[in-house]
Amino acid sequence: MCGIVAYLGSKDAYPILINGLYKLEYRGYDSAGVALIDNKLSVYKTKGKVSKLDKFVEDKNTNGFIGIAHTRWATHGEPNKENAHPHYSMNKKIAIIHNGIIENYPTLKEELKGRGYRFDSETDTEVLANLIEDVMHNESCSLQDAVLIALNQVVGAYALVVISEEEPDMLIAARKGSPMVIGIGDDDYYIASDATPIIEYTKNVVYMNDEEIAILKKGQPLKIKTIANQDKTPYVQELEFNLNTLEKGGYEHFMLKEIYEQPSSIRDSLRGRLRAKEGVVSLGGIVDFEQKIVHANKIIMIACGTSWHACLVGEYLFEDLARIPVEVEYASEFRYRNPIITENDVVIAVSQSGETADTLAAIDLAKEKGATVLGVCNVVGSSISRATHAGSYTHAGPEIGVASTKAFTAQVTVLTMMALRMAQLKGTIPTSRFMQILHEMEAIPDKVEEVLNDGGVAQMIAEKYKDATNFLYLGRGYNFPVALEGALKLKEISYIHAEGYPAAEMKHGPIALIDKNMPVVFIATNNVIYEKVVSNIQEVKARNGKVIAIVTKGDKVVRGLADYVIEIPETEDMLVPLLASIPLQKLAYYIAVMRGCNVDQPRNLAKSVTVE
Ligand code: G6P
Repeated sequence: MCGIVAYLGSKDAYPILINGLYKLEYRGYDSAGVALIDNKLSVYKTKGKVSKLDKFVEDKNTNGFIGIAHTRWATHGEPNKENAHPHYSMNKKIAIIHNGIIENYPTLKEELKGRGYRFDSETDTEVLANLIEDVMHNESCSLQDAVLIALNQVVGAYALVVISEEEPDMLIAARKGSPMVIGIGDDDYYIASDATPIIEYTKNVVYMNDEEIAILKKGQPLKIKTIANQDKTPYVQELEFNLNTLEKGGYEHFMLKEIYEQPSSIRDSLRGRLRAKEGVVSLGGIVDFEQKIVHANKIIMIACGTSWHACLVGEYLFEDLARIPVEVEYASEFRYRNPIITENDVVIAVSQSGETADTLAAIDLAKEKGATVLGVCNVVGSSISRATHAGSYTHAGPEIGVASTKAFTAQVTVLTMMALRMAQLKGTIPTSRFMQILHEMEAIPDKVEEVLNDGGVAQMIAEKYKDATNFLYLGRGYNFPVALEGALKLKEISYIHAEGYPAAEMKHGPIALIDKNMPVVFIATNNVIYEKVVSNIQEVKARNGKVIAIVTKGDKVVRGLADYVIEIPETEDMLVPLLASIPLQKLAYYIAVMRGCNVDQPRNLAKSVTVE
């Protein structure tokens, strides 16, 4: 996690750095800091958000054409000013920003203490700053060589940038396990954790690879080396997304904007891939691996958080349509087990950011075992998209709100297309049925639009239950992952405790919680187990629970039982998650806003979890 930005060129560095930090705040907002060289190296930092830093430096010297900046999500040491980045080395000539974890920092710290180094913070990063200073001193070498030597002593993950007062026209960046992009301007360089702070200045970027060091010197071409000191040729790519996608576009929060973007983000996911009239569904990125999937022993889907919920929908889809056995695993669990994987298995890693550390580690493990590993990522060029053998992008556009919304529906869209294509190839679905689902899929964006125009029902329900302390979300079949996702959305942004459960499991525990104060959200759409879910609703009502139900348009039975209903249009059961998740996103959003919570930046969370 943590966001890093750096600049070197002929413009004032501070405005570029601070604007970059605002854009990267989704990666963490415990503390923020900036280092600039204006003859002398100065570091300014504060606890809290980027706006506090911006205020704090109002009366400071923020001149300089080179600088580094950081917004932190705490790992080592509490989120106070001392632990904020950038960190000086002891002689205050070097400053460093870092995203990741130096695992052997306690040993290095002891050694450095033995050589007289003092530390102001509890962080692993300050150890690295002093290690670089120590190497420079002992070896009488340049900053560039010192960083290289120091990194060869380090175990762990990093994206880091170092500057030195003694070489004020140079940025040294390095990457291992945490993302970093370099923007190449006309006569300047930009560095950031992702491309969002860079896009307004240049579209030419280089995505750094693991174990690479970049040497950026004013007036000289970009140099890249491996940490084993071998020269590499930088691969310059052109960025595609446009700046408007990074603004709130008139919405009060990114989350609301992203919820309302879903008709178009789903359309973008489908674009060029699904053509119902022609009976075509095809994902270009995985074409070469289709036979591998069709003949797979099993598919293992790995992910974290919301992406894991998308995988659960995927499990039902692949089993239903393509009759391929599927296991869904939390990447964090999978990576430390001894999973049974063979060369005949296909692993599908699903991730919005493409940077989640646990998912990356799980991918490495699966690759070691010889499995074919495919990715479903939203961020183009991300680490996961590059670590996998092949994959399909979700094309949902940048998602800034920490609580994932449009990325989830885009992931489900891509997994649905994959499952449909495999069913077609495997012959597990009659053509007429295949065509029917394709047509229904094509109609989903319009139906999402319809769901979004709910006439204020979600808001009204939010008003009613905003003060509840617990919520239960229940669903069965395809609606079970929707229940989990609905509960996750609510707890993430409103801090109300919420649990998702398979509706029929309620009687094995959660039923004990039900009383007049407990709102229970049912996803009770028309399907083969509708009657069973109706019985569960009756069980809740019999215990005075409050029922909010997502139902299929025209439903009468549940309407007669529930306290509130939200209708969604009729669709295929397997496509219901794409519609039913939307009112739950809205409900969570409005409850959080009414409770005065920071919807886009909920406490303790970060959008991209690049640490274990
Ligand atoms: C964090 C985010 C979640 C996200 C999860 C997995 O916890 O706050 O919204 O679902 O990471 O992230 P990924 O980028 O791999 O989908």
